Amino acid sequence: MFRRPCFALALCAFTLALFPGPAPARGRCGTHPWCNTSLSPDARARLLLAAMTPQERIDYLGGDEVTGVAGGEHKHTGTQNGVPRLGVPTIYYTDGPLGPRQGPITGMPSPMADAATWSPAVARTYGRVAGEEAAHKGDDVIFGPTVNLMRTPLWGRTYETFGEDPFLVSNTAVAWIDGVQSTGVLANIKHFAENNQEGRSQCCANSEYPGRPAQGATTPPDIQGGRMNVNVNVSERTLREIELAPFEAAVRRAHVASMMCSYNLLRGTHACENNHLLLDIPRQWGFKGYILSDYLAAHDTGASLKSGLDFEPWPGFDVYGPAPINAALALGQASQTDVDRHVLRMLRTFFAHGVFDRPAFKDNTAAIPQIADRRVSEHIEEQAITLLLNRHRVLPLNARKLRSIAIIGKGAATFVTGGGSGNVTPFRFISPRQAIAARVNRGTKVLTDDGSNIARAAGVAKRAQVAVLLTPDFDTEGVDRFCLTLECPTPFGNEDGLIRAVAAANRRTIVVLETGGPDLTPWRSRVAGLLEAWYPGQEAGTAIARVLFGDTDPGGRLPVTFPNSAANEPTAGDPQRYPGVHNQVYYKEGVFIGYRWFDAHRLRPAFPFGYGLSYTTWRLGRASLRGRTVRLRVRNTGHRAGSTVVQLYLGLPSSKAVPQPPRVLRGYLKVALRPHRSALIRFRISNRDLAYWNTARNGWRIARGTYRAWVGSSSRNLRLAGTFRRRREVATR
Ligand code: BGC
Repeated sequence: MFRRPCFALALCAFTLALFPGPAPARGRCGTHPWCNTSLSPDARARLLLAAMTPQERIDYLGGDEVTGVAGGEHKHTGTQNGVPRLGVPTIYYTDGPLGPRQGPITGMPSPMADAATWSPAVARTYGRVAGEEAAHKGDDVIFGPTVNLMRTPLWGRTYETFGEDPFLVSNTAVAWIDGVQSTGVLANIKHFAENNQEGRSQCCANSEYPGRPAQGATTPPDIQGGRMNVNVNVSERTLREIELAPFEAAVRRAHVASMMCSYNLLRGTHACENNHLLLDIPRQWGFKGYILSDYLAAHDTGASLKSGLDFEPWPGFDVYGPAPINAALALGQASQTDVDRHVLRMLRTFFAHGVFDRPAFKDNTAAIPQIADRRVSEHIEEQAITLLLNRHRVLPLNARKLRSIAIIGKGAATFVTGGGSGNVTPFRFISPRQAIAARVNRGTKVLTDDGSNIARAAGVAKRAQVAVLLTPDFDTEGVDRFCLTLECPTPFGNEDGLIRAVAAANRRTIVVLETGGPDLTPWRSRVAGLLEAWYPGQEAGTAIARVLFGDTDPGGRLPVTFPNSAANEPTAGDPQRYPGVHNQVYYKEGVFIGYRWFDAHRLRPAFPFGYGLSYTTWRLGRASLRGRTVRLRVRNTGHRAGSTVVQLYLGLPSSKAVPQPPRVLRGYLKVALRPHRSALIRFRISNRDLAYWNTARNGWRIARGTYRAWVGSSSRNLRLAGTFRRRREVATR
């Protein structure tokens, strides 16, 4: 489905013809033997390692920047000093998944919005811009993407993730990493692994200093199941099939340069010294990059040196500083060979990604192509905005017939985004209020209200033909939300009350959610239109106005389930599942995460995974399943151009020993068509698509039994395409 075009061989031949023979290094490497680019990265790394003194190698394992983590222009989140004597360059690191957190950049929509595009092409462009802007800030490595699965929508970092489905998260991550690494910047996939919660607090989130008490509070909030101490108890099958799927895809398909081990413990051992996680599993995948620790996630020098932790970027605890490493070596807790193994992995990665063979990236914000990048940001947002309700075709608005419009709410004029290391400073902000006012015809009356006084806002809504109400929520690293309504936490006031009052005053009320992930929508039967714009980035206004007025079709589909009630979530109602008891959390839902849980328990969501409407109408023809290929025709039967996302789900044979959800996503394709045009679509089902993790055999297996294939436009709108049988169980990769 997402196969690369097969021109690689031809391209290689062409390149060789242009640049024959061993090429001398062009970059900053010099004339050392390891600068010979005709040698393999392994050979070059070995030569360089041999030239480094034991102390230089030890120094290379620990980061050298203390204050950069606070952010700001010209401040790298981390640095790794080079060895000038040998021409080893200093490596610069930056957060994070929305682009460099280092002074002003192009404010992109959140990663959750990226996932909502259901488009690897869009995700690749996002990654390319993030990579290019990181390079223009002088960075070599970017701490992203965040691919932990959204196990609970209460998670404070929900906005940073790609959602609840391993297949969608994997494809989005692979494309994003491809985009970043095409620029020469290295991606750092995080947080490895099972970092699925920040911890629950009854108190207040502090957006400036995540995890610390809010201003005025003197003691830290009482956090249960905090990310630093929580121990995740999860079965090997669940670990492999759910959380690790995107990491594995990133290693195998995108050749990701590095991974970041997480704060939490996994089955009793901290992630950053966990041999199963850092040694066994990456080895099985053929990982050739290096592993660094989250900030303060390394604890035990000897254990981490023996395990797979190669680099500690922040000298906060100083687990990998020269003094503790020398002490660990003196005590025999680790050896110089362990140190060398880590240095070698890093050097090899830097050679493989051309870091030595190019000039240093310059920290020069002025070189960022702002106009081109803002177009990308706007395009991503248009492809992400998801139309959830459109009663009596209230949308798109007809500018010619619109006499008056009320624009209400905090989201109308505020740059809405999340807190923590994914928080970035945009170059500019086009507010929805500004863009809608610019889009209406001359003569259309525009009324505005910030929604801070509910009665006043309802009065304004009453005087207009249409009311557009923009309502944000707030996700932040460091603490989870304590409930799922728009008010949890409450920086924007009583928004549910505001929606109810405005909808009662004007029956043509359109709510535009600007949320990190799923929220409760208890008022949804009272509003005419509902759009989900996610955290929309700096071009928010233009994209939202273009969708409202039908200049473009809303391109998004839900990468997460919107529940009817928080009690329906797989993690609800049992503190052992979430937030954990005495820092022990149990993933009792197994592989039944997200829509898999809702389907298995026949729970009706408010809006299902994969769902989203278009302004035009679509017909999916009868699907045929022949061999491993599903074919069908999709037609735009309406009068407008638009896009739809055709989705393929499989039902795997379920047994008591290996219970399977009713359906799992295994293919999708976004199709854009003009009116009355059709396209033939093909999905090819791979062996891995059929496989489950067999813990006893320590490998992937295809079970015997009956397999079903469905196609449709959401996880709850599907038609059976066909079934097939496997007569015996077989191993696969
Ligand atoms: C976060 C990481 C981030 C790091 C550096 C940590 O608190 O968990 O995602 O990259 O800080 O800012």
